[in-house]
Amino acid sequence: MQFKLSEEHEMMRKMVREFALKEVEPTAAERDEEERFDRSIFDKLGELGIAGIPWEEEVGGVGSDFLSYVIAVEELSRVCGSTGVTLSAHLSLASWPIWKFGNKEQKEKFLRPLAEGKKLGAYGLTESGSGSDAAGMKTTAVRDGDDYILNGSKIFITNAGDAEIYVVFAVTDPALKHKGVTAFIVEKGTPGFSFGKKEKKLGIRSSPTLEILFDQCRIPASQRLGEEGQGFKIAMMTLDGGRNGIAAQAVGIAQGALDAALAYAKERNQFGKSIAKQQAIQFKLADMATQIEAARLLTYQAAWLESEQLPYAKASAMAKLYAGDIAMQVTTEAVQIFGGYGYTREYPVERMMRDAKITQIYEGTNEIQRVVIANYLVKE
Ligand code: CAA
Repeated sequence: MQFKLSEEHEMMRKMVREFALKEVEPTAAERDEEERFDRSIFDKLGELGIAGIPWEEEVGGVGSDFLSYVIAVEELSRVCGSTGVTLSAHLSLASWPIWKFGNKEQKEKFLRPLAEGKKLGAYGLTESGSGSDAAGMKTTAVRDGDDYILNGSKIFITNAGDAEIYVVFAVTDPALKHKGVTAFIVEKGTPGFSFGKKEKKLGIRSSPTLEILFDQCRIPASQRLGEEGQGFKIAMMTLDGGRNGIAAQAVGIAQGALDAALAYAKERNQFGKSIAKQQAIQFKLADMATQIEAARLLTYQAAWLESEQLPYAKASAMAKLYAGDIAMQVTTEAVQIFGGYGYTREYPVERMMRDAKITQIYEGTNEIQRVVIANYLVKE
């Protein structure tokens, strides 16, 4: 067993850490306050090769692996949870299914610009009436000659509005339930495809979340991803890896909160000594660090399994479940360590606490992660 990161992975961490401190952290509070997405940050990630870390060079990637990818999401999220999810939704949710199920033409036309960071990706599964019960979707796709016509809507779509390429799921045969779901690639600007309400959120406020709408939206059959009826499996398999991206986001947010709380505890004096030397605070810091380390190990393990092409769905669900839960605990404790100051927007920990909450909800609530894990336990 090898618990030390390779030189390549250490270099990835160093590069993304430096980028995050220079280009992401300085505006994180302001972007949160203004609920503003900054496309130039994603563009720069593209220039560094971060938008296509695990994909082969032939399709525009840099030929690294899923461990490098989660390290990148972690380091971005350490300073800004919104930037972390921008990359995670782009890479795990939009690019991955095209990489896995796309044909040669689809990879050239859609995956390459995503991998090079020239286009931003999004994933449309959730609907107003189907969240956890993803198979209950109502958006339809009806075959019409060489096209499909899409009607319906999706909600809570990360990167929507700004993204150019969307992987969306629609029902092609309602009688077949989940076996009647099909995946499509839809481009921004397609007639009949538009954007609805932009959500005002508790956290990850500089990551855009919008409703997307299909009204007689005509998509060429060449943009069907996989076979008719394969969509639900594609959606689920995509989430298997996506969940580990969210685990990495949660680890990063928690680490950012610990970094801030530790620095503050060392400087803050009460009762004649720094609070970092007082047991009540030491116990908190020790628990926070231990929880983060455990979550990180689960996350890296799941990423390693995926890179090695070994089964990773259960590991990924465990990583997301644990990392999401501890991110909420750690960030709440960080606010507690800062006391009254932590409750103000002067310090980043209140933003981190707000950002952490979503990691227990999206890409399958943590209750759904327990269902997924238990299903594997029973099957195994
Ligand atoms: N891989 C491959 N196939 C899978 C699979 C997986 N991980 N999970 C399920 N399937 C297959 C099953 O094998 C089964 O196939 P057969 O019919 O051929 O036997 C089929 O799919 C149906 O499986 P289930 O009966 O288990 O399906 P279900 O309807 O009971 O749902 C669920 C299972 C786990 C609850 C699923 O609906 C789920 O994951 N729900 C949560 C949805 C979710 O995570 N949404 C996130 C939205 S995206 C997001 O949040 C992004 C963002 O903002 C950043």
